Amino acid sequence: MQTSSSTDAYGLFSGMDISPQILEAVQKMDTETPPRRMKSSSSLRKHTSRRTPRYPGHLTTTANSSAEDVSTTSDSDRDHDYQTDFTTPATSDIYPEDMQPDDVEDFRDREYPQLKGKTYMDHGGTTLYAKSLVEEFSADLIANLYGNPHSASTPSAIAGHRIDAIRERTLRFFNADPADFDLIFTANATASIKLVIDCFKDHAATSNTPVWYGYHRDAHTSLVGVREATKMHRCFTSDEEVDVWINSGGLGGPRARQIGLFAYPGQSNMTGRRLPLSWPGRIRKSFHKAVTYTLLDAAALATTCPLDLSDPATAPDFVALSFYKIFGFPNIGALIVRKDSAHVLESRKYFGGGTVEMVISINDTWHAKKETSLHDRLEDGTLPFHSIFALDHAMNVHERLYGPNPMKFISHHTAQLGKQLYDSLSGLYHANGTPVCRIYKDEAAVYGDPTMQGATIAFNVQKSDGSLIGFEEVEEAADHRAIYVRSGSLCNPGGVATYLGWSPAEMKAAYASGHRCSNPTQIMLGKATGVVRVSLGAMSTAGDVQILVRFLEDTYVETAVPRLARSSSLPMLNTSAGVIATYQSRQASSAIPPLSSESSTDLNGRDRMWDSSDAPALPTMSPMSPTVDGEKIRAFIPADYVKRRKPWEEEMRKQATTFNYGIPGDLKMREGEDGGSVTKASTPSFRARKFGRSVVNLLKSNRSNVNINFADQRTQQDPMPAPPSSSYAETTTSKRSLERNNFKHNLDSLGL
Ligand SMILES: Cc1ncc(COP(=O)(O)O)c(C=O)c1O
Repeated sequence: MQTSSSTDAYGLFSGMDISPQILEAVQKMDTETPPRRMKSSSSLRKHTSRRTPRYPGHLTTTANSSAEDVSTTSDSDRDHDYQTDFTTPATSDIYPEDMQPDDVEDFRDREYPQLKGKTYMDHGGTTLYAKSLVEEFSADLIANLYGNPHSASTPSAIAGHRIDAIRERTLRFFNADPADFDLIFTANATASIKLVIDCFKDHAATSNTPVWYGYHRDAHTSLVGVREATKMHRCFTSDEEVDVWINSGGLGGPRARQIGLFAYPGQSNMTGRRLPLSWPGRIRKSFHKAVTYTLLDAAALATTCPLDLSDPATAPDFVALSFYKIFGFPNIGALIVRKDSAHVLESRKYFGGGTVEMVISINDTWHAKKETSLHDRLEDGTLPFHSIFALDHAMNVHERLYGPNPMKFISHHTAQLGKQLYDSLSGLYHANGTPVCRIYKDEAAVYGDPTMQGATIAFNVQKSDGSLIGFEEVEEAADHRAIYVRSGSLCNPGGVATYLGWSPAEMKAAYASGHRCSNPTQIMLGKATGVVRVSLGAMSTAGDVQILVRFLEDTYVETAVPRLARSSSLPMLNTSAGVIATYQSRQASSAIPPLSSESSTDLNGRDRMWDSSDAPALPTMSPMSPTVDGEKIRAFIPADYVKRRKPWEEEMRKQATTFNYGIPGDLKMREGEDGGSVTKASTPSFRARKFGRSVVNLLKSNRSNVNINFADQRTQQDPMPAPPSSSYAETTTSKRSLERNNFKHNLDSLGL
């Protein structure tokens, strides 16, 4: 480890203690040396045994450390680009090329001590950072003086040059040639997506070519939200629909004199299904009427899959991702832009500090944007430069831990574990043959095949009678065993609708009755409103999978239920897109029994209906039979609800026009209609109230057969807002108060 006090080409750093690697970076950028490939030193790849510890145990860095102590490289590392391998031994046995999944066990305790005694299975939320990443990063910051890259001082110039070098290295991490791609650092994948649509909007306004936006049903909320930027949008509900659209040359897409943007996730963050990466190339080739750009949301995909942008002809125009999902740290993201498509982003109107050469603000409104590069024009304000340095360390550590092609190893490793997990979960049965897990998976997806499926599994736990256990309850129970998974609707509205079988009307009704993503009613209308998601990552092990499976087995498998004949199977859940919500059941039963309302985290009492040896072969669990005003009511049928609410809405519309008490006359509430089409006077609370009323209306008009399957399993936290007080309210006091009383009464009887 040593530093250099030598002079660079301009004498800029003369006399300073500068790490040779940084100095080299600066010189390299200044002399416009063509970028070098990432570390390829074969000498470094020679290693002895995979099982030998690869790193010195630990780095001792104190606050007083000199640059000498923590220099970012050694002489032997001089041929590395910006390596800061503080924990790398000089005579290295690193970079094993034949990493095996078992090898993760070797370094996990040392590199991920935060995992001690814990089973972390939410890598889709974030994966974990290695200890040596944090050590290297902190040593770097302690040893080196970095200034704001926008300043001109030497520490600032170093920071600026280092950022450029890391930008280039990051592109190469994705096999993207900097000649063909640019990389804009952002806060996260969402910010990258937002940057794209903001630029498209400005482009549309400047060139008078309106934006058409298409997105896939598996899209994360951050992609779905883009549709609010334009009136012309379409949700593709299946891969086949996309294929048909592409094969037709874009029929049903943007028209002439429009500009198209098609966005989709490389991997569903809900089910882990991987979507075709061939779409961008095919779209580029076959659409002639209107240019349609492609935006790949690689946030979930890139966590455990190598993203290969080596062919600009078939690569997406824009790729959004978050680095914390790949390396655990730093918390920054990027937008990778194909340079041939960069012009669409050039029309952005906003400029921030650092993106302009000159601005006149008094008595004129002139400004000149930076001409150097796209990223210079789009990266507003000071970059998170320390975090970008951490990214450099993250890539080093990744290579050191997971081999010279880390993502390839991680992909293979997690695919194997994913298969093991899937096989284990789908092999859990209650004593009567009912599967313990309803796994939501695409028919075509094959666990173990990384081209089709990532190492993520979405499922719900069910009892032996087929009734669901709340996903939050499962998450909490797991949490008590120090197993960390994720549950809920996962910001994947299309996935929830598709795999859990929710129609728009039902979702709106669920919202009206108090269900919120942030505060969910776990099961409504006999259906789950979310899932349990288990997602594996680079440092997951077979032991993690076993711990989870053991937990599910211990907690939920009912062993004392009558074993049923195994001749027939439960019906497939008939979901809207024909995908399976898998019931690979061995149970004989004609229908999914109704929802059980009892809390089921603790299943100790679960056998009370089943225990007796003379129990019927099939459970005869009675549906909940609530009463309103003492009358028994029949089960709620969603279609009835939708039908019945229409006349009421019509009535509301008329009343709104007559009394004009603030309800927009053109409020659209038809099923399937764009939820964004309400006028600006319509607030969320108003819409919730409106739907709440429609529930009331249904309850009123159907008093003897009120639905009760809005089975809220938790206390209602979000009561419906009171009706507006207005002149209208005064003129209809008795009707409104009656309605209010009824509503309250009905909510009470529903236990809401
Ligand atoms: C597929 C997908 N897209 C987008 C996002 C949003 O990422 P971020 O929150 O980092 O912006 C996520 C986050 O989980 C995701 O999985």
